[in-house]
Amino acid sequence: MSHNYDVLIIGSGSAGLTLALHLDSKTKIAVLSKRTLEEGASLYAQGGISVALDKSDSTEFHIEDTIRVGTDLCHEKAVRFTVEHAKEAINWLINQGITFTRDKNKLHYHLTQEGGHSRRRVIHAADATGWAVETKLAQLTKRKANIQILENYIAIDLITHHKLGKRGNNQCLGAYALNRTQGRIETFSARCVVLATGGSGKVYLYTSNPDVCTGDGIAMGWRAGCRVANMEFIQFHPTCLYHPLAKSFLITEALRGEGGRLLLPNGDPFMHHFDPRNELAPRDIVARAIDHQMKRLGIDYVHLNISHKPAEFIYQHFPNIYAKCLKLGIDITQEPIPVVPAAHYTCGGIITDLQGRTDLSNLYAIGETACTGLHGANRMASNSLLECLVFARAAAKDINQQIKKTPPPESLPPWDESQVTDSEEEVIVAHNWDELRRFMWDYVGIVRTVKRLQRAKHRVDLLAQEIAEYYGNFRITNDLIELRNLVVVADLIIQSALARKESRGLHYILDYPHKNSIAQDTILVPPKYESSSINDYWESDSNTTLT
Ligand code: FAD
Ligand code: SIN
Repeated sequence: MSHNYDVLIIGSGSAGLTLALHLDSKTKIAVLSKRTLEEGASLYAQGGISVALDKSDSTEFHIEDTIRVGTDLCHEKAVRFTVEHAKEAINWLINQGITFTRDKNKLHYHLTQEGGHSRRRVIHAADATGWAVETKLAQLTKRKANIQILENYIAIDLITHHKLGKRGNNQCLGAYALNRTQGRIETFSARCVVLATGGSGKVYLYTSNPDVCTGDGIAMGWRAGCRVANMEFIQFHPTCLYHPLAKSFLITEALRGEGGRLLLPNGDPFMHHFDPRNELAPRDIVARAIDHQMKRLGIDYVHLNISHKPAEFIYQHFPNIYAKCLKLGIDITQEPIPVVPAAHYTCGGIITDLQGRTDLSNLYAIGETACTGLHGANRMASNSLLECLVFARAAAKDINQQIKKTPPPESLPPWDESQVTDSEEEVIVAHNWDELRRFMWDYVGIVRTVKRLQRAKHRVDLLAQEIAEYYGNFRITNDLIELRNLVVVADLIIQSALARKESRGLHYILDYPHKNSIAQDTILVPPKYESSSINDYWESDSNTTLT
């Protein structure tokens, strides 16, 4: 089965849906989503969205904080661009009908505080900001006659001129996707394709991310010829709920912003030993401090306590966290919450410019899949949803212009399944998946060494070989597609981590404990890379190039 669209958007998180809603209403659009339209990291975002609204704040302070937290690796023009468009993006959300929490006198929006921010700067909808944003965007998208929503479709690979054996300027022409309901692979051709597939937290054993976050867009973009940058900077969120029945449940940093304290099992606070900002130090520092205490004392978790605050305050600010914990037998108004760090955010990704354009003509990348230069070596809390909104709007503006000049989509060859059979040992996929996530956690985690990274590299090479063989011989399934992508992403993370001979931001390696005086991006170049139109944008700001 084949489809033709003007714009094919792969992914329906806050980035993909914001883009869809900003394209001209005459544009014929398809939004592919791996599961339901709403499912993705955006839905679970808690803390909020950073925007300088307080009288004491300014865009300049927001820019300064972002660059400081990013440990001097942020691209100033990406930071400036994002922060300067923040109010506009938030006003758009408000105009769409999203209700943010107001302060006591109801005159202003309540702004919460998170790590690394020098001011209260995070607008939010209680502790479920992502739910408020994503469900509203999904509702609006469903009403648009020009947008076709295709749920339970997982994109497998991009179709490019070069993949079809054509010469000349490589261009993106569409994608193959598995219709998970029907179990068949369908062909999509489009004038323009957008990767909005989110991050890759599932490459680690413990993560705050939902199951769909398997780095598909990064892997697809890389295989199609796009460069990726800064993949070593995986952010570990310091405080995920530790409970056998709680899968990936985050305890927002805003809880520390509103007075929550991190404690050892004996009740002693410890953050003052690590940073003068205590619980509100940037995430890399807090996660490392917790990791250090857990290893030092041989404990499985530390405590996060907010029970000294009035119960009324807790119900009002953290209703979902309160309810979730209570369901598991923890009354957070009375007792501390057991927490551990977990993989949370992929700072690196497909290189883009300020319009979300990638190295490949007609291919855009937005949201967590992209590396815009905003986050540098460590993303500041609540800058991610902001980036999704700002870059989705900018990309839509560019696509609205470009599409008029782009010829209609070609008809593309169908997926060839003639050489494959059904697997008799699907369990191999599950085994490889477990192995990968375990060694990434053990060897490529919060604290790294060259030896551990080399061990991980050896294992990922073996897995990649095995999976390539499996992929070549057997009919593909959802799990195989995801595993194939996770292995690519794991390899990109390890290669980048081995290339960085210093500790900076989220990349902390015992063999090189110090920060170099010059900050450089780690840029990985795919085998068949062709120099691209966004070269100038990245090269003016970065230096390291690897193959
Ligand atoms: P997502 O929202 O993850 O959406 C990705 C979409 O792509 C999904 O629809 C998925 O199904 C689809 N998809 C993936 N692969 C394929 C494929 N192969 N084919 C088809 N579809 C595919 N950031 C903040 O700024 N503030 C916060 O308060 C905050 N809290 C967070 C809390 C949690 C628990 C988590 C996990 C993250 C949080 N973040 C927060 C980070 C932020 O939520 C994410 O970075 C952001 O939502 C990413 O949006 P996205 O649109 O890029 O991807
Ligand atoms: C949180 O609420 O702690 C998550 C915020 C973020 O990841 O930006």
